[in-house]
Amino acid sequence: MDKAETWQDPAYLRGVQYADSSRLAARANLHAKYGRGDWFAWLASQVDWPAGGQVLELGCGAGWFWASAAQIVPAGLALTLTDLSEGMVAEAVGRARSMGRWTEVEGRQADASALPFADASFDVVMASHMLYHLPDPRDGAAEIARVLAPGGVAAIATNGLGNLRELFDLGRVVFGGEHGDQVSAIFGLENGQAMLEAEFETVQLWLYPDRLVCTDPADILNYLTSSPPGDTASAAELLALRTVVEQAFAAGGGTFTVSKEVGVFLCRGRALSP
Ligand SMILES: C[S@@+](CC[C@H](N)C(=O)[O-])C[C@H]1O[C@@H](n2cnc3c(N)ncnc32)[C@H](O)[C@@H]1O
Repeated sequence: MDKAETWQDPAYLRGVQYADSSRLAARANLHAKYGRGDWFAWLASQVDWPAGGQVLELGCGAGWFWASAAQIVPAGLALTLTDLSEGMVAEAVGRARSMGRWTEVEGRQADASALPFADASFDVVMASHMLYHLPDPRDGAAEIARVLAPGGVAAIATNGLGNLRELFDLGRVVFGGEHGDQVSAIFGLENGQAMLEAEFETVQLWLYPDRLVCTDPADILNYLTSSPPGDTASAAELLALRTVVEQAFAAGGGTFTVSKEVGVFLCRGRALSP
């Protein structure tokens, strides 16, 4: 199984990679420590939140969005937080409820490829960094369009092919593989627009400029060993990876700069049938 298949394997995603938030946290830490630090707040500010509206999140993960963007997302909304992983749903619901801001916060294990919700039942649908995990992201796009109410908005965030390219290039020295951010080749900034335009009347892309000037090699190593192939690396491969990472920091005089390519598609209305 190559890396792209692993990232789209529901059993691996639900039972291993996202059984809880520990592996995702190793990756999120890199962005939180070295980036702008306002990703979730920025994402929340892209959405027109309707007073008292019904909000659905797909692939909610640990619910970090709701903690980080609490000052921007208005009170009075009814939240339904869903994820393929039961562990993630429990964590997200606990975190969102603990904010004490939204009176209704429900959780449900659900596959975004086949949602257990009626047509036109949500005013806002959030799907951040998750459509690339579906065996076919177009199924998720169709489901989002189906459950979105007329006048509603879907916010679908993802990465570009060049996201974190310097970091992935270090991994390639040891593990080989393709250039770039592999999940973005499945659903990313470059190919996402066409997939979404098949389902929505309008699709607008907004980019989030950022880059990471890293100072601790351990943060890069933690990132690269949180997912395949690094999470099953042999002792010899780990030693080689550590050497490559430390050389990169030495070449940069103690820092290592990583590019980011991140954005959100805002989708409205139903596409006319062909
Ligand atoms: C990269 S994490 C993003 C989590 C969260 N949206 C965030 O931005 O912090 C991807 C999430 O999608 C979930 N996921 C993967 N495949 C899914 C599917 N078919 N349906 C719903 N959620 C899925 C994973 O369990 C994981 O929690």
